[in-house]
Amino acid sequence: MTAARPPGPRDRLLGLRLVGRVKADPLAFYTGMHREYGDAVYMRFGPYRDFTFFHPDAVREILVEKARQFGRFQHPIRVLRQWNGDGLLMTDGELWLRHRRIIQPAFHPSRFPGYAGLMAAAARDHLDRLAGEVEFEREMTDLTMDVATRTLFGVDLGADRADLARVMKVLNAVAMKEFTTPFLVPRWWPGQGEKKWAIRTLDGVVRRIIRDRRASGEDRGDLLSMLLRATDEEGDGKGLTDEQARDNTVGLFLAGHDTAAAGMLWVGWFLASLPEVAARAAAEVDEVLAGRDPTFADLPQLKYVERVVKEALRHRTPTIGVFGRQALQNVEVGGWAIPKGGLVRVFSWVTQHDPRWFPDPEKFDPDRFAPGRAEAIPPGAYFPFGMGPRVCIGNTFAMTELVLLTAMLLRRFTFAPAPGQGEPVPVAGMSLRPAGGLRLVLGLRKSGH
Ligand code: HEM
Repeated sequence: MTAARPPGPRDRLLGLRLVGRVKADPLAFYTGMHREYGDAVYMRFGPYRDFTFFHPDAVREILVEKARQFGRFQHPIRVLRQWNGDGLLMTDGELWLRHRRIIQPAFHPSRFPGYAGLMAAAARDHLDRLAGEVEFEREMTDLTMDVATRTLFGVDLGADRADLARVMKVLNAVAMKEFTTPFLVPRWWPGQGEKKWAIRTLDGVVRRIIRDRRASGEDRGDLLSMLLRATDEEGDGKGLTDEQARDNTVGLFLAGHDTAAAGMLWVGWFLASLPEVAARAAAEVDEVLAGRDPTFADLPQLKYVERVVKEALRHRTPTIGVFGRQALQNVEVGGWAIPKGGLVRVFSWVTQHDPRWFPDPEKFDPDRFAPGRAEAIPPGAYFPFGMGPRVCIGNTFAMTELVLLTAMLLRRFTFAPAPGQGEPVPVAGMSLRPAGGLRLVLGLRKSGH
C-alpha cells in the first residue's frame, strides 16, 4: 500500500474551480482527468477528499468486494430525498436491506412474461399512432413512463402524463443544480415555485394511485399490491408503513422510467444513423417474429437486437456512473489508502470508453457482445447497471423492456435523422440526454403492420 495520494489537479481555491468544471461538463471533466492522471485521481472538493477510480479492478473492489466498507455519499441523496423520500434507492444499512427484501419478489423471473405482455400493450398504444417526423426523446419518455406505471402499479396515467413529463424536467434541472451546490436551498427561499409545484404534483399522483388501490382492496399481484401487503419475513415480519410504500412507489417510478427512456432514445439514434445495424436488426426481427409483436419467450432469439441494446448502454450509458460512495472506515482501493470519510467515485461513462477494454471505443459495434468477443471484456469494465449488492434491482426488467421495445420499433419502422438533426451531443443530467432533444423520421415498413 502506498502512503502517497493518487495524482490529480491541485486547486488553491479549495476545489471551487474544479466544481465549476464538473458542473459545466462532467463527461469532459472526468474523461480529461483519466487521460491526464491515469486510473486513480485525487482531488480536494471543499472539505472532502475525493478519489476517482477508472480501472475495472477498482470498480469491482468498491462496488462488490469492499461494498460494505462504503456508504452512499449523502449530499446527492439529500437532494433526491426532497421528492423521493426514504425508499430503496435512498437508504443504507438495515432499512435498505428490508426494502430490498420486500421489493425483490416483484422482480422474480416468474413475473417477466406478464410484464412483457403489459409492456407490449403500452408500446402498441404509442407506436401505432407514430409515423413521419417525431420528437423521439419525448415519445420514448412518454412510453417508458406508461410502461412503468402499467407494469408496476397497474394504472394508465392518462391525463396525468403531460404533467408528469413536466415534473420530470423540472426535478432533473433542480437535481443537477443542487448536486453541485454544497448546501440545500431552504424551503422558504424565494423563487422555488416550480420545484414546489413539481414535488406537490408528483406526490399527489402517487398518493392517489395508492389510495385507489387501498380502497379497492384488490390484490392484483403487481408491485403496488406487494408494497401494500408485503411483510419482511426474514426481518421483523412487519410490512411497510404508508409513507414507506409511498416513498418506494415514487422511487421505482422515477428510477424505472427516466433511465429506460434515455436507453431507448440512444438506441433510436444509432438505428437512424447506422443503416447497416438497423438492417441487420430488422432482418432478425422479421425472421424471429414473422410479423407479430414479441412475447417474453421470443426475447432469447433476438440476439442481435440484444447486442444493439447492450452496445447503446455502453456507448451512451444512461447514468454516467453510480452514486458517490463515502468510506465508513479507512480502506484500501487499488493499492491507495482512502481515509475514513473519503469520497470514492466510479464512472461507467469513462471506463466503458477505455480502449483497453473496448477497442475503438467511439465505434458503435454491437458485436463486441457476441460470443467469442464478449469474454474479453474484463469484469468491472461494463457496468451500466452498477454491480454488487446495490446493483440496479430493475436491470432484467430494463433489458426486457429495451429489447422488446426495440424489436417493436424495428418491426414497424425504418429510421432516419430528421432534416437538420445532427449528431446529438450527450448531456449528463439525471440520465444522459441529447442537447436539444432528438428528432427522427420514422418510415412505415410495409411488412411491419
Ligand atoms: C436502462 C435502464 C436503467 C439503468 C441504466 C439503471 C441504472 C442503475 C444504476 C447504475 C444503479 C446503481 C446505483 C448505485 O450503485 O449507486 C441503479 C439502481 C437502482 N435502479 Fe436502476 N437502472 C435502470 C432501470 C431501472 C428500472 C427499470 C428500475 C425499476 C423498475 C430501476 C430501479 C432501480 C432501483 C430501485 C435502484 C436502487 C437499488 C438499490 O440501491 O438497492 N432501475 N440503477
